[in-house]
Amino acid sequence: MNITKEHLAGLLKNDRFPLSGKYEPAWVIENEMGPNALWLAEWLCERVELKPGMRVLDMGCGRAMSAVFLAREFGVQVWANDLWISASDNLRRIREAGVEDRVFPIHAEAHALPYAEGFFDAAISLDSYHYYGTDDLYLKYFVRFVKAGGAIGVVVPGLMREIDGEAPEHLTRKSPGGGRFWDPAECFSFHTVNWWRRHWAQTQLVDVLLADAQQDGWKHWLQFEEAKVAAGTNRNDDEIPALKADQGGYLGFVRLVARRREAASHDAD
Ligand SMILES: C[S@@+](CC[C@H](N)C(=O)[O-])C[C@H]1O[C@@H](n2cnc3c(N)ncnc32)[C@H](O)[C@@H]1O
Repeated sequence: MNITKEHLAGLLKNDRFPLSGKYEPAWVIENEMGPNALWLAEWLCERVELKPGMRVLDMGCGRAMSAVFLAREFGVQVWANDLWISASDNLRRIREAGVEDRVFPIHAEAHALPYAEGFFDAAISLDSYHYYGTDDLYLKYFVRFVKAGGAIGVVVPGLMREIDGEAPEHLTRKSPGGGRFWDPAECFSFHTVNWWRRHWAQTQLVDVLLADAQQDGWKHWLQFEEAKVAAGTNRNDDEIPALKADQGGYLGFVRLVARRREAASHDAD
C-alpha cells in the first residue's frame, strides 16, 4: 500500500454508508474486486430484511467481504459462494474476521449450486449477477434455492439509460492507461432498472418489490476507484476517466429486491 492508514481512511470516508465505515480501510482495499462491496451490501440491506439466524446465500461473494459484513451486522449465517476465489482462500479471510461459526465458504459455479431447494431464507448478490443472471432462464434455476416468501436481492453495475447500438464514445475511448472502460463483450450485460425489473417480473416466479438506481452511484463508484489508485492496488484506472466523463449519464448501480412466490416444483433442469 502506497499511502498511510489515515490517508486511506480519509479517501474511503463516506457518510452515506456508516456501517461500512466501521471496517478497516486496508482490508477493504486489499480484498476489493471492483466497486466497494461493503457499500453495495449496505445499500442493498437497507431494503432486504435480515434477522439473526437466517440462512443467506451470498452469490458471487468474491473475497467474502460482504459475507463477513452480513454476518457481523445482521447476525445471519452466510454461505459465501464464489467461482474465481477458492473456498480455502475465503476460509482464511473468514477465520481472520472471526466469523468462522457463521460464514461458510463454498466454491461453486452459478449453474451448479450444491444446495437443497428452499434452503435459504434470502439470497443476495453484489456486482456478480450480471455475469450469469441476464440469461432469461437463470432466475428459474436460482430462485429454487430460496424458500417461498424469501427475499432475493441483487446489486449490479448498470445503466441509467439503455444503450441502443454503439456505446457512447466517452465510454469506449482509450484511457491514459491504454485500456477502455467499455468492453462490448462484457459491458452489454449492463442494463437499466426497467430492464431488470421486467427481466424478473415476466417470469412470474417472484414479486419484484423494488427496482431502483443508486443516487449518486457514479460518485461512490468514482470515489472508490480513486482510493484504489491512490493506494497503489489498481494501476489500471480505466474506470476513472469514463466515470468522470459520464457524470452518471449512463453508469451507476441498479438494485433489485424480489420475494419468491409459492414454491413451484422444478424439473431436473
Ligand atoms: C466483480 S467480482 C465481485 C465479487 C464480490 N461480490 C465483490 O463485490 O467484491 C464478480 C464475482 O462473481 C463471481 N462469478 C462470476 N461468474 C460466476 C459464475 N458463473 N458462477 C459463480 N460465480 C461467478 C466471480 O467468482 C467473482 O468473484
